[in-house]
Amino acid sequence: MAATSVPICLTTLLLLLLLLSLNTQAQTPSAPAPAPPGPVNLTGILDKNGQFTTFIRLLTSTQVANQVENQLNSSTEGMTVFAPTDNAFNNLKAGTINDLTIQQQVQLVLYHILPKFYTLNNLLLVSNPVRTQATGQDGGVFGLNFTGQGNQVNVSSGIVETQINNALRQDFPLAVYQVDKVLLPEELFGVKAPTAAPAPPTKTSSGGSTNSTVAASQPAPGNGSGGRNSNVALGFVLGLGLACMGVLS
Ligand SMILES: *[C@@H]1O[C@H](CO)[C@@H](O)[C@H](O)[C@H]1NC(C)=O
Ligand SMILES: *[C@@H]1O[C@H](CO)[C@@H](O)[C@H](O)[C@H]1NC(C)=O
Ligand SMILES: *[C@@H]1O[C@H](CO)[C@@H](O)[C@H](O)[C@H]1NC(C)=O
Ligand SMILES: *[C@@H]1O[C@H](CO)[C@@H](O)[C@H](O)[C@H]1NC(C)=O
Ligand SMILES: *[C@@H]1O[C@H](CO)[C@@H](O)[C@H](O)[C@H]1NC(C)=O
Ligand SMILES: *[C@@H]1O[C@H](CO)[C@@H](O)[C@H](O)[C@H]1NC(C)=O
Repeated sequence: MAATSVPICLTTLLLLLLLLSLNTQAQTPSAPAPAPPGPVNLTGILDKNGQFTTFIRLLTSTQVANQVENQLNSSTEGMTVFAPTDNAFNNLKAGTINDLTIQQQVQLVLYHILPKFYTLNNLLLVSNPVRTQATGQDGGVFGLNFTGQGNQVNVSSGIVETQINNALRQDFPLAVYQVDKVLLPEELFGVKAPTAAPAPPTKTSSGGSTNSTVAASQPAPGNGSGGRNSNVALGFVLGLGLACMGVLS
């Protein structure tokens, strides 16, 4: 019993650590100070430019700005941010952002961030799709595709494609590029029509065991207000992790 539960626990705890590392990276004592480049102020960089007020507001309200600045402090990879202009947000259908849950807003913002520093030339050479900082517990990839022609680079979310115009900053550890469209991830805005059509609440693939406690966490069918799965999954992982600690101690 204990012999089999220990590896499961370890795996779970590793997963847990992975999830938490996003938030707590600054506190981990491991990284041996990779040449502190001085604090990078992402919102400051955007603020100077004057046409990113919506994105700044989102970065701040979702706490992603803090997260990025902390992570940059200890990152050896650096980061790349695609900053949609105010015009880009204004061109969205009304309510596009406000209809998202807070967690989906976090995912949307993180979708505009790559966990690595890329110059424009680097972006021409990446292999697609490139993972973003956004993650989906239910298997969503949240990738971006980059294509180039000459020295012009396009970025595509699968739903929108736009040119990368203007490098607001291109110095390690942080690259910031202006984009004139909000990059809408398929994971949030794809196929699944958010209106009407009570789409069958795909509770397939549970392979038989219908009456387990897991079934209790299925959302009530009908209102397809997304974002629930990841919350449930996170809670599940957290719970498992805590249970494991109990087992191990
Ligand atoms: C970053 O810049 C913003 C806007 O310029 C400013 O309000 C904020 O205090 C700065 N943060 C840090 C840590 O310097
Ligand atoms: C980044 O690290 C420096 C020293 O290594 C520290 O003074 C600064 O407060 C840190 N900034 C953040 C945002 O954690
Ligand atoms: C990226 O390109 C691949 C194949 O070229 C395609 O399958 C995938 O859907 C694209 N993803 C996005 C986010 O555009
Ligand atoms: C880049 O996207 C624009 C539309 O925003 C399109 O007109 C252009 O053909 C694309 N270029 C490449 C290299 O895909
Ligand atoms: C599920 O199990 C509970 C008891 O654990 C039982 O009362 C209930 O009828 C079961 N439901 C189904 C659909 O089998
Ligand atoms: C769920 O949908 C029903 C109609 O289908 C609606 O009356 C109800 O307000 C919705 N509830 C939520 C929480 O959106």
